[in-house]
Amino acid sequence: MDSITEKIRVLKERRGAVILAHNYVCPEVQDIADFVGDSLELSIKARDAKAEVIVFCGVSFMAETAKLLSPDSTVLHPVREAGCAMADMAKAEDIASWRKAHPGAVIVAYVNTTAAAKAQVDICCTSANAEKVIRSIPEGKEIMFLPDRNLGRNVMNSTGRKMALWPGFCPVHDRIEKAALEAARKAHPGALLMVHPECAPEVAAAADTALSTGGMLRFVAQSEAKEFIVGTESGIIHRLKKENPGKVFYPLLPLPTCADMKKLRPEDILASLESGCGEVVLPQEIMERARLPVDRMLAL
Ligand code: 13P
Ligand code: SF4
Repeated sequence: MDSITEKIRVLKERRGAVILAHNYVCPEVQDIADFVGDSLELSIKARDAKAEVIVFCGVSFMAETAKLLSPDSTVLHPVREAGCAMADMAKAEDIASWRKAHPGAVIVAYVNTTAAAKAQVDICCTSANAEKVIRSIPEGKEIMFLPDRNLGRNVMNSTGRKMALWPGFCPVHDRIEKAALEAARKAHPGALLMVHPECAPEVAAAADTALSTGGMLRFVAQSEAKEFIVGTESGIIHRLKKENPGKVFYPLLPLPTCADMKKLRPEDILASLESGCGEVVLPQEIMERARLPVDRMLAL
């Protein structure tokens, strides 16, 4: 064990901390974490952690969600500037204006939104439960889905529900083209092809399956297949390989990389545990209002 890992272990115990990490962060951080998962799994872990301190290794909206669900814990997000470009595409004031123009509508927000944006919506979803959340809304209700137009279109296709879509997108997944899938299939004809539902519908349709990152891990673990093409952020390949030593993984090319997910290094975790820097602090009013849509999602 190297000295940073050892120092983190000692401090973590002293401070009663738990380290949560998203499937996309760099391998060194994943290996230090107590739990690695997708957005939904991490929200549930944060809610149930009952830890003095939660060190959240991911992007800002995920750390904010952990704070909403664990208001009594100190939540540390060691690199506060690690944000999500898609989350920044839905501003709270624009959502409030849309609501005014559509007073009877249900507003569904992907968890990839800021806490201020969540405070304006009715229910949240992740890519793992989006279909379930949309199906829970009574037929005939007007629905607005934000901010990811691709996830929205994919869910409209699978549920048959009509929704108004926000014009947001994930720059990492929206950039993935059908041609990249075709090239990967040609290079690896025996492999199953997985993509994330943040990809465009024509890309999702060209894959064998479109799943959340947690869904991909379960799909691979249960599959008889030995080779997989991975159509999402490259960080997940570390866990896929670690948990499936007999299987082979090919990333799509060009390699999908989220620069914000890669900002966090083990040194930042150590500094945050030592000094308390990176604490997530949200205004009380936002905490109260933004928690409701997340709680509604988790109650389904
Ligand atoms: P998951 O919930 O599938 O882990 O996705 C989070 C994310 O940010 C995808 O870009
Ligand atoms: Fe946001 Fe896309 Fe990065 Fe996920 S991969 S955190 S959606 S920018």
